[in-house]
Amino acid sequence: MSNADFMAGLRADAEPGSHPGFDSPRVSGQPDKLLLTGATGFLGAYLLDEWLRQTGVTAYCLVRAPDTAAAQARLRLQLDRCGLWSDDRAGRIIAVPGDLARPQLGLDAAQYARLAEEIDVICHNGAWINALLSYQDLKPVNVEGTRAILRLAGEVRQKPLHYVSTLALFFGTGHTRQTLTETDVPVLDEGLRGGYKQSKWVAEQLVRNAGLAGLDTTIYRPGRILGHSHSGVNTNLQDIFCIILKACLKLGSYPAMDTVIDITPVDYISRAVVHLASSESRRTGEVFHLHNPTPVPWNQLMEMVRDLGYPLRPLPEEAWHSEVRRRSSAQAGESFFRQLRLLLRSPIYLFSPDKPLYCGEMTLNRLAEAGIVCPRVDAELLATYVGYLKDCGFITVDSNP
Ligand SMILES: NC(=O)c1ccc[n+]([C@@H]2O[C@H](COP(=O)([O-])OP(=O)(O)OC[C@H]3O[C@@H](n4cnc5c(N)ncnc54)[C@H](OP(=O)(O)O)[C@@H]3O)[C@@H](O)[C@H]2O)c1
Repeated sequence: MSNADFMAGLRADAEPGSHPGFDSPRVSGQPDKLLLTGATGFLGAYLLDEWLRQTGVTAYCLVRAPDTAAAQARLRLQLDRCGLWSDDRAGRIIAVPGDLARPQLGLDAAQYARLAEEIDVICHNGAWINALLSYQDLKPVNVEGTRAILRLAGEVRQKPLHYVSTLALFFGTGHTRQTLTETDVPVLDEGLRGGYKQSKWVAEQLVRNAGLAGLDTTIYRPGRILGHSHSGVNTNLQDIFCIILKACLKLGSYPAMDTVIDITPVDYISRAVVHLASSESRRTGEVFHLHNPTPVPWNQLMEMVRDLGYPLRPLPEEAWHSEVRRRSSAQAGESFFRQLRLLLRSPIYLFSPDKPLYCGEMTLNRLAEAGIVCPRVDAELLATYVGYLKDCGFITVDSNP
């Protein structure tokens, strides 16, 4: 298939298709029952915690599992990992075994009808995140799953939909070095490479189209989500930043680069989403940018890690990549470096000089009113992050005393 045909296919997938329309009566008043997707994931666990903390909802969590008990156990496990489980709130968490990739979300007809009738608000955060898979691989979960959620949102009663998108949608060549605000619409072009970003572009477009068709929608675009600002907890260690940090520590060197990195703690994002989603002043159709307003220069970041006691020396970029190649292809080549090489071959944007800059001033102002401020990336935050990564066994290199 030519690239042009592939792009045309993505645009066609973003068309609304058949859904019941959004002319059913709108849910009004304070929501009582929330449907949350992706609660067994990293951001999802913190979103669940914040929905329970900031609002009075009971949270129905769609979880991949064979039955309710297994779904409940998966939720409990993830909340425990994040230090968020509390017996007092257990009664407000209802596990719903299901699957975004299956028809009617993998629910039987009675359960689907009950959710369509009873749910007051939806927070769709679940997605399959994988930098190596193709659009076709990810489409059933990320695109068709979103379409199924939109259908549910319009069924019986119109439920407001809060959709977790990503700032990575702006990585197409159409936005090279631009400064982007919440009102910018991500352009699909051949520069938007990688199945994950493409599938999320289609999904956001579906949500936008549903908004234009009358559904009450809000879109949240987070930047790079990293650990909790106080505990450092991070259950998404497949993130390219974590992997590159681990590689730097193993090699004792880092690629010296003139670029900045967005590091946004998960607790800021979850607090922000739930505050904005439940605010009395919210309006339909809003878009929010949730990134760190103070991105940190990469070289400075590495110097801060070095100051924590890890021997790290700067290398010219190509020399650092040669080191990775050497470690992956030596006779006893390490599987970690082999995987890293594969990742570095796929279109990653972490180090790209063409990265756009983000401006989330409207979002920041709205959050400042509620005292929600993104933590700065400083030595203390980095020590918390590296400490957690060592405690959980992800980083095995010792620092100098
Ligand atoms: N991580 C980042 O830096 C970042 C940045 C910007 C935006 N985002 C967005 O934030 C959201 C959450 O990301 P995350 O980092 O928390 O990812 P994550 O830890 O991988 O969590 C993904 C969640 O989606 C669920 N999921 C995947 N496939 C599913 C399916 N077929 N049916 C039902 N649930 C399914 C997963 O369930 P299982 O536990 O069953 O796999 C998991 O609960 C995503 O929408 C992502 O696009 C993330």
